[in-house]
Amino acid sequence: SKRPGRPVPGTDFEPVAPNTADAVVIPRGYEQDVVIRWGDAVEYGAPKFDPAKQTAAAQAKQFGYNNDFVGLIDNGHDSWLMVVNHEYTTETQMFPAGTYDANNPAREHAEIAWAAHGLSVVQVRRSRKGGLEVVPSRYGRRITLNTEFEVRGPAAGSKYLKTSADPSGRRVFGTQNNCSGGVTPWGTVLSGEENFNQYFANANTVTDPAVAQRLARYGISGGASTRKWERFDQRWDIAAEPNEVNRFGWVVEIDPNDPASTPVKHTALGRFKHEAANIAIARDGRVVVYMGDDERFDYIYKFVSSGKYKKGTSAFARRHNSSLLDDGTLYVARFTGDSPAGEIDGSGKLPADGEFDGTGQWIPLASGNKSFVDGFSAEEVYVFTRLAADKVGATKMDRPEDIEPNPVNGRVYAALTNNTNRGAAGKPAADEANPRTNNKNGHILEWEEDRGDAASPKFSWRLLLVCGDPATADTYFGGFPKDQVSPISCPDNVAFDPYGNLWISTDGNELGSNDGLFSVPVEGPERGHVKQFLTVPVGAETCGPVITSDFVLVAVQHPGEDGTPTAPTSHWPDGGTSIARPAIVSVWKSGR
Ligand code: FEO
Ligand code: CA
Ligand code: CA
Ligand code: CA
Repeated sequence: SKRPGRPVPGTDFEPVAPNTADAVVIPRGYEQDVVIRWGDAVEYGAPKFDPAKQTAAAQAKQFGYNNDFVGLIDNGHDSWLMVVNHEYTTETQMFPAGTYDANNPAREHAEIAWAAHGLSVVQVRRSRKGGLEVVPSRYGRRITLNTEFEVRGPAAGSKYLKTSADPSGRRVFGTQNNCSGGVTPWGTVLSGEENFNQYFANANTVTDPAVAQRLARYGISGGASTRKWERFDQRWDIAAEPNEVNRFGWVVEIDPNDPASTPVKHTALGRFKHEAANIAIARDGRVVVYMGDDERFDYIYKFVSSGKYKKGTSAFARRHNSSLLDDGTLYVARFTGDSPAGEIDGSGKLPADGEFDGTGQWIPLASGNKSFVDGFSAEEVYVFTRLAADKVGATKMDRPEDIEPNPVNGRVYAALTNNTNRGAAGKPAADEANPRTNNKNGHILEWEEDRGDAASPKFSWRLLLVCGDPATADTYFGGFPKDQVSPISCPDNVAFDPYGNLWISTDGNELGSNDGLFSVPVEGPERGHVKQFLTVPVGAETCGPVITSDFVLVAVQHPGEDGTPTAPTSHWPDGGTSIARPAIVSVWKSGR
């Protein structure tokens, strides 16, 4: 049943087979190289990495741990500023065997971890081999949990954001759990603060029921935190600093072109477990930001600015456009299926009309200082966005991860990574937008705003992929013959190549092989033809990615996370008996 089909630009490679190698496995005819790895120099004066003698001062100048988002900003002459998020630390792997006691960490362990979080900015250029290499430069910058951020937008200075260290509620030290992100049209980077809940201790001491309810809705509970940072800085102790936790869970903006700039937390974009933030420009020039809240049964959001975009990447344009993210309307999505509810039985079987599809609506939550949600002030909508969205009938999704508008066809693509609680006792049942109970493998949602205008209040949608093993009946690949596609599980990050093909990186492959990167055309006879471009080493998650016509970048996050220092499962990328190191890899076609 092979379709004739021509090779689609950008996806003309022989797919990689599923595997469990401790390597990045790429198609035949391609080459790879590490661009930068945990501990490599970022700022001038960074000492050489020595995992046995790591210090916080060294880490603060070196590439951080667990790279996730990768953004490239063109600097001309085959040179770019590369911005990378460092989502979290894995102390039990970072420190040599026997030197880290999770029950009794030392202050230096905490301070190294604070310095290993955040972001890195480095300058990169094409290497002689064909990949990318780091160029030491004045743009080299680490942003850590000690870097000062400015809080902007309608909740800046809110009573919910004031602490004893910052009575203004406008200055926060650091960013954490930065998962994915996006490059703005004006040349800055947006980055999502995701699972910030895990760093805060002693929520169980809270007696005010309203405060306890808010903490619970954000997954903040219990006594001591996993990393026990509360022993070294009371801001991590909710009993001592009840509002510090409200200062995380935002979208932050970094201006890599200005190494002295103060990064920003944008409160107008709401507070939740932000996966990422990506921008489209509306017909009339307003800026639209798409965002997912990565939790089972949480929501998809968009923000529409009040003011209009000014084209360009000058310092003036960057300042103007960044300020647009501080005033606008925050919306949450409701998806309505067009097939009878009885045809959506949770099995993943297609309804009679042949598609999981329907229409949708953007429900406004707040605009500037005006709230649209009963019982919530505007300030409360921004700081406790999840609870406000709960009130308005938004659709509970299967863990919204990265969401990105396709620059070629204008449609928007969202990764719903998985939700094994879908349809469980006492939990929401399958619906047409989340059509499988016990959704282990996730799906990809595609929508088109009315009239193709990103600012529209309505849209139409369909599922592009229902992921998993194509040999099983509960999967769907855009109508493409399933015997010709690569298996794919747990989509996380999405990106587009210059031809508008969708690329998907995965996290948590439920099919028993390593995670990887996949391409899939979204137009024409090849729509839905998923092909695996690479796999990452054992225990790792595939992040980034960046797809250009000349090379591909992926972030290999947490290689060997299933091991320990005494029983490592990965020695990637340095091999031998070396410690596994999260790293960015470039891949290019041989003989370019
Ligand atoms: Fe950090 Fe939602 O993945
Ligand atoms: Ca339908
Ligand atoms: Ca992610
Ligand atoms: Ca994920």
